[in-house]
Amino acid sequence: MERVSRRTFLQLAMTITAGLFVALWNKLAQNQLKQDEQRTRIFPFNKNKTVIFADNFIIINQEDSTTVLSAHCTHLGCKINETENGKLICPCHGSEYDLSGNVLKGPAYKSLPQLQARISDDGNQIEIQG
Ligand code: FES
Repeated sequence: MERVSRRTFLQLAMTITAGLFVALWNKLAQNQLKQDEQRTRIFPFNKNKTVIFADNFIIINQEDSTTVLSAHCTHLGCKINETENGKLICPCHGSEYDLSGNVLKGPAYKSLPQLQARISDDGNQIEIQG
């Protein structure tokens, strides 16, 4: 029977531990995303701002349409909170999305989920639903 060196055993144990950690983190991020999607929230709305970061949401105003995206990166769930040259940037590992939520640069590979929203009749508030 072949013996496994201590180094090989430790490398294997660390790889398995890292894999389990990533899987657990991903599961927690997905659960947070589901919880965010199940709430209805109301925020102030300004049609003149192209990008509005509102808690766990990103409100995008382009021409005559308004889109609401989840602010949680689809890689490991970090909150996206900045734009650069018309792109949404994740601060954790640098994933980039366009203003429709499509991935431009990984490590994320899934688009940001779009959420349903309704703008109040006076145009001053937006109600976001998951
Ligand atoms: S969590 Fe956004 S790139 Fe990793």
